[in-house]
Amino acid sequence: MQQKILEIKNLSKSYGETVALANFSLDLGKGEVLGLLGPNGAGKTTLISILSGTLRGFSGGVAFKGQDLFADRNLRNLIGIVPQEMAFYEELNAMENLMFWGGLYAIPEKELKKRAQELLTVVELGARAREPIKKFSGGMKRRLNIAIGLIHKPELLLLDEPTVGIDVQAKVSILDIIRDVGRQGTAVVFTTHQLAEVEQACSRIAIMDKGTILAQGTLAELIRIVGEKEIVEVSGEFSADAFSAIIRQSDGNGMEILSVADNQAHLAFADSQAIPAMMQHLFGHHLPISDLKIKSPNLEAVFLKMTGRSLRD
Ligand SMILES: Nc1ncnc2c1ncn2[C@@H]1O[C@H](COP(=O)(O)OP(=O)(O)OP(=O)(O)O)[C@@H](O)[C@H]1O
Ligand SMILES: [Mg+2]
Repeated sequence: MQQKILEIKNLSKSYGETVALANFSLDLGKGEVLGLLGPNGAGKTTLISILSGTLRGFSGGVAFKGQDLFADRNLRNLIGIVPQEMAFYEELNAMENLMFWGGLYAIPEKELKKRAQELLTVVELGARAREPIKKFSGGMKRRLNIAIGLIHKPELLLLDEPTVGIDVQAKVSILDIIRDVGRQGTAVVFTTHQLAEVEQACSRIAIMDKGTILAQGTLAELIRIVGEKEIVEVSGEFSADAFSAIIRQSDGNGMEILSVADNQAHLAFADSQAIPAMMQHLFGHHLPISDLKIKSPNLEAVFLKMTGRSLRD
């Protein structure tokens, strides 16, 4: 790995009985773009909140550029945050917002103005800088949120679900911005529920659930976890229990169960020749199947294998 910028060691955080982070550990190199993939409640926002200094009462440690992140406020000023809930003033225009948020970092005004103009161009809002934000679309607001996170030239940018609630085109543009930020040398961690996003924008992917990392690596490395298998997605009007009961009565033939939920299950076959016999077995037991898909190993299969559940909301 490149020079390390962030080293998270055994971070744990509970809210009463609820464990949000459980011995969460992760390293990040300079300029690396890490996609943190996890379903609802996995602990993503909790992690980002701790790193941004807004959440306390945890155990474990975080080193930023080799120093204790929580010992020195100045270190936190080298981190940019793009929160899940958008943070800016609707009454101000985009330029005014950047000037306001940048003003919190004691950047000389002339320099700040230049930086704000540059960033508005980066996030494709240059022509809309003087319009009230109230008139912005969801995607435009998200892009402004990113510009605010970058105003003080952070060395690490943390984005919590930066693409939620916007259309496909706006998503692509945000992913492009994130990738470019990484290319400029800023390390990036962004959280998402979307498999396709991490495939597009990240140099490394971490899969987390229940407050801990279950697997991490490049896309190719992660796919190797599933191995050379055919993935069969079975959908229909069945319960998880009914599916499991029928599957238990088969001899399996080297089949692996990746996930079983109501209405959908995923199976992995090392030998594709075993697929027809299994399908016959399922149909023979009158499992109400409406759709079958055969897929090559992909990130979704890795996710299913590691968490036993799908990423959908
Ligand atoms: N303020 C809180 N009080 C009590 N429990 C909380 C609080 N914030 C989070 N939790 C719980 O901690 C766990 C992790 O929540 P967190 O918000 O970090 O997950 P997440 O991965 O960001 O989820 P999402 O994808 O829905 O944003 C969940 O079980 C959640 O219910
Ligand atoms: Mg969250």
